[in-house]
Formats: sequence, C-alpha cells, structure tokens
Amino acid sequence: MILHKNNTFYLQGKTYSYVMRVNEWGYLEHLHFGAPVGEDDLGYLAAARELSFAPVPPDAKIFSLDTSPQEYAGYGQGDFRTPSAMYTRSDGGIASRFRYAGYALGGELPQGLPAARGGELLTIYLEDACAKVRIALFYAVFDAVLVRWAKIEAGERISIKRAYSFSVDLPAGDYGTLVLHGRHAAERTPEKRPLGHGALSVGSRRGASSHQMNPFLALYAQGAGEETGEVYGFELLYSGSFTLVAERSQTETVRIAGGVDDTNFSWQLGVGEAFYTPQVALCYTNSGFGGMSRALADFLRSSVIAEKYLHMPRPIVANNWEATYFDFDRGKLLALIDAAAPLGVDTFVLDDGWFGKRDSDTTGLGDWYVNLKKLEGGLAPLVARCKAHGMRFGIWFEPEMVSEDSDLYRAHPDYAIGRAPRCTGRNQYILDFSRPEVVECVYAQVAAILRAHEISYVKWDMNRHMTEFFSEGLPAARQGELQHRYMLGVYALARRLTEDFPEVFFEGCSGGGGRFDAGMLAYFPQIWTSDNTDSLSRAGIQWGTSYAYPVSAMSCHVSACPNHQTGRVTPFSSRGHIASLGATGYELDLGKLTEKEREAVRAQIAAYRRVAALVQTGDLYRLLDPFTGNYFAEMLVAKDKKTAYVVGMTVHAVPADFPRRIRLAGLDGAKKYRVEELGLTCGGGTLMHAGLPLPSLGDCATWAWHLVAEA
Ligand code: DGJ
Repeated sequence: MILHKNNTFYLQGKTYSYVMRVNEWGYLEHLHFGAPVGEDDLGYLAAARELSFAPVPPDAKIFSLDTSPQEYAGYGQGDFRTPSAMYTRSDGGIASRFRYAGYALGGELPQGLPAARGGELLTIYLEDACAKVRIALFYAVFDAVLVRWAKIEAGERISIKRAYSFSVDLPAGDYGTLVLHGRHAAERTPEKRPLGHGALSVGSRRGASSHQMNPFLALYAQGAGEETGEVYGFELLYSGSFTLVAERSQTETVRIAGGVDDTNFSWQLGVGEAFYTPQVALCYTNSGFGGMSRALADFLRSSVIAEKYLHMPRPIVANNWEATYFDFDRGKLLALIDAAAPLGVDTFVLDDGWFGKRDSDTTGLGDWYVNLKKLEGGLAPLVARCKAHGMRFGIWFEPEMVSEDSDLYRAHPDYAIGRAPRCTGRNQYILDFSRPEVVECVYAQVAAILRAHEISYVKWDMNRHMTEFFSEGLPAARQGELQHRYMLGVYALARRLTEDFPEVFFEGCSGGGGRFDAGMLAYFPQIWTSDNTDSLSRAGIQWGTSYAYPVSAMSCHVSACPNHQTGRVTPFSSRGHIASLGATGYELDLGKLTEKEREAVRAQIAAYRRVAALVQTGDLYRLLDPFTGNYFAEMLVAKDKKTAYVVGMTVHAVPADFPRRIRLAGLDGAKKYRVEELGLTCGGGTLMHAGLPLPSLGDCATWAWHLVAEA
C-alpha cells in the first residue's frame, strides 16, 4: 500500500515499511526502512541539527545535506557521502542539489532493462536546483521486497558520470555486511564482516556481473543469525559492471547505494533525452539471513522469472560437455543419446563444438552454422534420435563472442570490441553488442538454427570478460557508454529470442556462474551455477548462491569422478543428492557407467521427480554451514508445510565420533511428520527444537530425508 499524507510517503509492504518525507526546506528525506510501522508523523527522526563542517544549502537554515538521511543524493552541496548521481553541465559545472518536485501514483519501467512484474508503483520527482535536470525516482511495492530505479531527464545538455539505481540512509547502528565473492569454479562464497567507518565498495569492472563479486549485498544488525535478527538485502537486476557501496558516516549512519559501475562510464544526454538506471530489489526482514533469502527467492520466482516457469517441470538434461569436450562426431553423440534415454533423462543438450570450424576453443565462435564435417547430416539425425526416444534436444550458443579464426571476424573485424592488437580471453574477442547491427547479425544466425530444428532448450554461454572498452560504432565522446549499451544489446537479444521462441527453455551460463544475477533471470529461468561440479565444492557454491537466489534457478549436474575441476573422488550418491538441490541433470558419459551406476541414475531421477515441486516452489532453510563447520545441510519445506526434503553431507569423516544432533527448521510445530528414511514420526516442534541424530558418514558422503506430514 502507498499512502501520501502530510508531506510523508508511507510504502507499506507486508513485512516492512518504507517512509520518506519532504522536509520544511523542500528536500526528500528517508525516515524508515524496517519492520512495519503505522502512519505516524516520523519527522522527528530527521530533526535537523548543526554540525561543524556540515555546509548548509543556500535555501535552508541549520539543515545540512551531510547529516540528512536522503533518498537520492546529489553532489557538491555539502553531502560528502557517496553521491547517487553526478553529471556535468555544458559549462563544466558538476554540482547538483535535488529538491522535491511532486509525485504521481504509477511509474514507468526502465526501458531496455530487465524489470520486475507488478507491484504498486510510485514516482517521486526531484528537480536539480543547479541544472535543468529532473530525476524520477520509481518505487514498486511488493509484499516483502521494494524495487527501486531512477530516470534522469535532461532539460539542458549534460554528461552523466554516475547514475546509481538507489541510495538509502539507515540510522546509526552496529552493522555487518555480507557479500558473495569468488572466482571461476568457486563462485559466491559468503563473506561476513563488521562495517567500519568509511565506505565498503564491492563490484565488477569486467563487463559482466562476474564470478568474482555478485551484484548483491546484505547489511545485518550484529548478532543476526540464520533465522533471527534484522537483515537487509540489496540485489541489482543487472548483469554488467556494477558497484554496491555500504558507507558508515561520521554520525554512524549507514548509506547503501549502487548501480552501474562508473569507473569507465559516461553518458551524453541531450535536451529531452532520458537515462534509465537498472532496478534494484531491497528487502528487510527480522527473520535473519534465512528470512532474507526466502523473501528474495519468492520475489524472483514470482515477479522476475517469467511466470510460465513457476510450476513448469524443469528439463532433466544430459549434457555432453564433460563427456566429450570438443571431440565428438555424430556416432558418439547418438551413443550418448541412446545411453541417456533409458535412464529417465528428458533432454539431451549438445554443448560447445557443433558449429563453424570449432574443434578447439581457438576457432569458430560467431559462425552459427552446423559443422557438417563433424556432424554428418547436421543436427537433424540427433534431433530425430532424441524424438525416437521421447526425449527433447537442446543446444549451446555463445552469442556474444567471436573467434579471430571465424568467417564472421574475417568479414567484420570491426564487430569486435577494441582495436587490434587486443587482449584475448579463452582465445576469443567480445562482439560489440552496443551496435544494433551486430546484435541483428547474431539474432539472424541463432534464429535460423532454432527455426530449422526442433530445439527445446538453449544454453547461452559467455566465456570472457571485457577489455579495451572501445567501440568502432561510437564517437569519441560516447565511448564511456559502451559497457552499458553492450548490456542493453545483450538484453535486447535475450528478449527477442525468448519472445520469438517461447517454446524454447533458455539456461544462462558464463563459464559456469559468472553471470548469475537477477537481470539474467528475467530472461532465463535458470543458470549454470558453476563449472565446478565436485559435490563438496558444489555444496558450498550452492549454499552461497542461495543467500540471494532460489534453488530453482540453480542448474546442478552430476558429473564424473575424479572430478574434472578438483580431481576429487566423491560418492555417486553425494553427487546426486547435491544436484537434487536445484535443477538437476547429468554431465558425464552415461554410456560409460556400470550397470550399478545406471541403476543409481534411474533411482536418482525418480527420486528427483518426487522433490521437483519442492525445489521449484518450496522454502529453503540453511541448516549446517560447510564454510564454518564439518557438515552441510539444507532443507526445503513446501509452502503448505506438508512435505519437506533435507540433504546433508559430512565434509570429513570424524574419528571416534560422538552423537550430534541436527535441528530442522521451517516445519509446522502443530503437525506430526513421518521421516521416511528413519522410520520415525515426530512433531514438527520436536524436529525443530530437539532435533534428530546427525548421520556420521565418510568423506563427502551425503544423506537425504523425506518428511511427510500426517493427515
Ligand atoms: C563454459 C561452460 O560453463 C561449460 O559448461 C561449457 O559449456 C563450456 N563453456 C563450453 O565451452
């Protein structure tokens, strides 16, 4: 609900209130973001006071922007904290002072960018007292999440240097921050630290949201735990270079802000033109990190990921990448399809190497036509064999890339970002998606393949980060627009392909989980979580990912041992159990399995189908943290609390072990549950508060329990 009363805006979600007011000098101040409050006059929370070295704006007395809790901060007017927007006028002046200029119920979505569906909309207008610039702040109120974004409109020529999506000033407190950092094959490791004075700034300058830092940040009141305490989550719906800042000021207040990274960003705005920022989801909970994750997961599943995927069973795939890498021909692939079919797999996915002259990672990207030397008869015999088995066929593309040794590059060397000699990454260049003609050229090729064959699944990969940052398509003054325009091009292609081929299921990927973000989820319902499929590593990666994303968005495969990334040997069952905590599949030569392993795959797939609905719509509870202890355990509970699924792992076998307990979570205390594998029936309260014996197993061994409530 949105209410405007006595110069105050009350944005009431189900689990939070967000309150702003226009103060007596005409500035928009932030008063409260937290647990629900009534529509009281909260002006006292922002009472102005004098402070040395806190400049006073020309139209105010006492009041300083430096000590005022703001909604969107200008620059050069006495607020020395992180500015939200910065731009220069044609005279070179850069100062901006944003004054309230009205509001409207309703709003506009950010053009060309991913956007959440629904929510109750509010627009607040600010006018710059120093330049002919108007800022529209947009708010979309959802039950447990508030979405914000902004639009900068120019009434005179400006050059934007920064355009953040949001800024919010929280009261003095003892806070900590949680970020998800990592690297290739080790994505989204949670890191918590106390927030000291000054600014903690995290982000990516790689042209992609990145493996190295996820576009998500949580701020928590010290003492918050998995299920208790105050936690805020901030998550950008953006897949390019970004910044998120948490800044503790001299008066102990905390400003959280962020959006498109501005290290190499500028945007020329002519009179009458507008720039839209990406959206950001803000979430508050007093139910700890678990509460935050569940709120974000519900929001992403219901309002960001396309509606049709909420209940649609996810394909259970067999992917040939780790089975063959580039070394395959028609015969090998047909054998893989034949091996997958009797096991219950429903989609065969042909990965990298089927197109152009692609026999290694040095050639062929950009040439999206079938390599007939390698695949006699093209894709048709593969599709036909899948159909004959009642399976579907999927295929890999890396639309944003080009190899130097490719027909596309030979014809259009200027289509690559930068000028030769350029850096390579995995021997390839990035196509300049800031140019519509480049996007069009890739669309035409990908669409031709999708039109010509019965393809039900596309894996969209992206395997290097951006360098040089130069476009042949942009004039000198606009080179700073390249990275964001590139993202607009990526989103335009993703939107067009998903709209034109609604029957195709798209999975995102970027060298594993290098672009695992809410922006991509607006187009692709699931993302390859990591190239690391070792079950121990994966338990940690999926644990970290679950802070900000639903398990239904995580693509998780069983792969061969010794694992190709870590060399570790883990039990087959543990690979199946960990992969069952997401959209499951297989990434190994199913034809090389022993009969016992094939039986295990059949059983895993049958078991998965049983919990698939829980994975898709259930609530996740993180029980045992593999980053801080010797055990991993996660639990999914149905919304109606009638069924639950628990998976656990022992990291290292413990010598002379002693009995330990594991407490479950999220159950209905008034219901009795049968724990099938233990042959035990107990009250939900008992399971949550007294717990169950924690299985003590060998290295990386796992267990699973199915809970069913008694009628
Ligand atoms: C990186 C992906 O993460 C892998 O799954 C695979 O598709 C390779 N690229 C293919 O080049």
